[in-house]
Amino acid sequence: MKFIFLGPPGAGKGTLAAQVMEKYNIPHISTGEIFRTAIREKTSLGLKVQAIIDSGALVSDDITIALVKERLAQPDAAEGFILDGFPRTIPQAEALAEFVQVDAAVNFDISDEEVVKRLSGRRVCKKCGQNYHAEFMPPKKSDVCDMCAGELFIRDDDKQEAITHRLEVYRSQTAPLIGYYDTLKKLINIDARPATGEIIESFMKLFPLK
Ligand code: AP5
Repeated sequence: MKFIFLGPPGAGKGTLAAQVMEKYNIPHISTGEIFRTAIREKTSLGLKVQAIIDSGALVSDDITIALVKERLAQPDAAEGFILDGFPRTIPQAEALAEFVQVDAAVNFDISDEEVVKRLSGRRVCKKCGQNYHAEFMPPKKSDVCDMCAGELFIRDDDKQEAITHRLEVYRSQTAPLIGYYDTLKKLINIDARPATGEIIESFMKLFPLK
């Protein structure tokens, strides 16, 4: 299956995508994660996008589309994938439709209040990228990753000012994609409020494994 995960920042797209990747054996392609890796490794892409991402703005369509086109051409994405965080603008969606047909755009339905709680408590492993939440999904040992014992940190774009800006950007540039995929009859809404175990169960009922 070829999925797009749509929804506001902090809706739980990355968390569910990690579970879907395992169950359905398809790659999880997160544009945000590709950019964060480039920043960590100080590549030319990373240097170009760091300030944009830290402020909560969007990277340009040209850069993002080229990057996704190249990633989807890899053999592991031929049979299926989860695109997490792409497309994020109408021009990105139109460009994507020129090189791949997706099966479903899964829209994560959640309030701004819940998003702010999720983002302000998020902790991420410096080494392996595993996500935690200080209250909802705490690691066994404070600030230490359960998987690799790496140190946990707070993303720069999870600071209050950047969260507010990301929500504004989401509303003006990304939310119109809900109508876009609805018109194409590809939109599936998912209630993103329950605990993660419940969400993956609902997801698997909507998209049974073959
Ligand atoms: P990106 O990394 O895509 O950020 P985002 O869309 O803002 O999404 P997040 O990673 O913040 O949230 P999420 O929905 O994955 O939630 P998560 O599962 O982590 O992009 C970052 C930046 O890169 C953008 O701002 C932009 O600058 C740039 N960028 C990326 N793609 C781009 C594009 N296409 N075009 C242009 N620029 C682009 O969960 C959040 C927290 O909640 C975690 O702590 C988690 O533990 C907790 N949680 C998750 N699920 C639950 C649950 N069910 N119950 C309780 N807590 C939960």
